[in-house]
Amino acid sequence: MISLDPRPAVIGTRLSKIKRIIAVTGWKGGIGKSVTASTLALLLAKRGLKTGLLDLDLAGASDHIVLGTNGLFPKEMMGLEPPMVYGVKFMSVAFFSSNKAVPLRGANVSDAIIEMLAITQWGELDFLVIDMPPGINDAALDVIRLIPQTEVLAVTTSSVLAHSVLERSLDLYNDLKVPVLGVIENMSGREGGRPKNCAGRLRYDAGLEAALGDPDKILMTKFAQDLRKIAVAILKMR
Ligand SMILES: Nc1ncnc2c1ncn2[C@@H]1O[C@H](COP(=O)(O)OP(=O)(O)O)[C@@H](O)[C@H]1O
Ligand SMILES: [Mg+2]
Repeated sequence: MISLDPRPAVIGTRLSKIKRIIAVTGWKGGIGKSVTASTLALLLAKRGLKTGLLDLDLAGASDHIVLGTNGLFPKEMMGLEPPMVYGVKFMSVAFFSSNKAVPLRGANVSDAIIEMLAITQWGELDFLVIDMPPGINDAALDVIRLIPQTEVLAVTTSSVLAHSVLERSLDLYNDLKVPVLGVIENMSGREGGRPKNCAGRLRYDAGLEAALGDPDKILMTKFAQDLRKIAVAILKMR
């Protein structure tokens, strides 16, 4: 079937001035993908790197809460220019959903993702961090299809169940030939086996929750300190 949709072709142009695209993934919910993606973007921007953050978890968009984006909105400029939050260009479905649920399924999910990728004017970036929904669903497959240069940074917890799901996800990325930068073990607790391809561990940080919504406070948490070490190692961040 011939597609008359011009947007997938536009996406390549929109992303052409971005040096690296990192998708923060994890096949379970509540394991820290959003805090990791948001904090990673803040750390990169703090280092003076041009950074964007795209929240693609349409149903569970959270990064606007982590960053505290109240009162901000994208600007219409031949597409949408993401607002800047603490040095990070940020785009999320949350700007358009007035804090309501976004009940999308199947083709509509793809449509919303294609739309966000096609209309957002990122400009020149060193890094675009994408916060992914849990699992390998339409969103994840679309990102792999539409952004072939994506590199994966996987998040897991230390639970046996999370490790098992993680291994299946790594096998799939391998089959799809998507490069995996490493696996971050978050809220690291259980002693014993580390996940495959472990890039580092993030301690459970009782102070993180109170810092959400305030980038200055987030950057001072133990969580951000741990993540900084991992980012330096795997992204060769200065
Ligand atoms: N290392 C950590 N220490 C303390 N709390 C954490 C840690 N990692 C995640 N959390 C908390 O767990 C909750 C779920 O995290 P979130 O990033 O939303 O997960 P996901 O995006 O995987 O669903 C959030 O309230 C977050 O603040
Ligand atoms: Mg999330």
